[in-house]
Amino acid sequence: MDFYVLTLFPEMIEQGMRTSMTGRALEQGLFGLYPVNIRDFAGNKHNKVDDYPYGGGAGLVMQPQPIYRSYEEVCRRLLKKHGEARKPRVVYLTPQGRVFDQPLAKELAKEEELVFLCGHYEGVDERVLEEIVTDYISIGDYVLTGGELPAMVMMDCIARLVPGVLHNRESAETESLENHLLEYPQYTRPEEYHGKRVPEVLLSGHHARIDAWRKERSIERTKERRPDLYRKYEEMEKSGK
Ligand code: ADE
Repeated sequence: MDFYVLTLFPEMIEQGMRTSMTGRALEQGLFGLYPVNIRDFAGNKHNKVDDYPYGGGAGLVMQPQPIYRSYEEVCRRLLKKHGEARKPRVVYLTPQGRVFDQPLAKELAKEEELVFLCGHYEGVDERVLEEIVTDYISIGDYVLTGGELPAMVMMDCIARLVPGVLHNRESAETESLENHLLEYPQYTRPEEYHGKRVPEVLLSGHHARIDAWRKERSIERTKERRPDLYRKYEEMEKSGK
């Protein structure tokens, strides 16, 4: 899996992704990360990549040509890598997109490469979006200053589905969300902390009882914290999966 990121802030992508679990996975070559600086494709003396919106209004709009040229650069690299022309999926991060969730992450994880286009300022010239974007995706109903953080959220989530990126335990968390349930609470040493003891069953070594206890806590927690998810869980149970 290779991620290409068209951005004005490649260092932000590098720093974010080279930290923690994704950083380790990158070092191990479990996925590839290739930020492309849109400004390198400005094609003018002052490296200008934005201009005033036609029709007036606040802020600046990113111009189409530097974005298209950075996309062409990615296509050239893909041609070199595969020995044939490829049209990769190009994700534009926008609050106007389909809301990202675990099933969409799973679908995107099947791709060999993904291109993320990170917008800034007041937006991106519509014509280049029509030309290259295949997927408009939002990470939630709130507005951020740019697409870099949403792209990193998506890459983190998709990368952890790549075999080897995670240690075993964490894969359970994905599964529990796919069953429309939240994860059960976790405990580690010490056995007693600020007067609170770890639930006795977890010290019992009795795996069937531990599993049953965890399932109950998952259900209880989902009902309380995410009634919307709990309804889906109930429906799934009723329909026998
Ligand atoms: N860009 C700005 N806000 C965003 C959001 N919520 N999701 C994706 N991209 C964005």
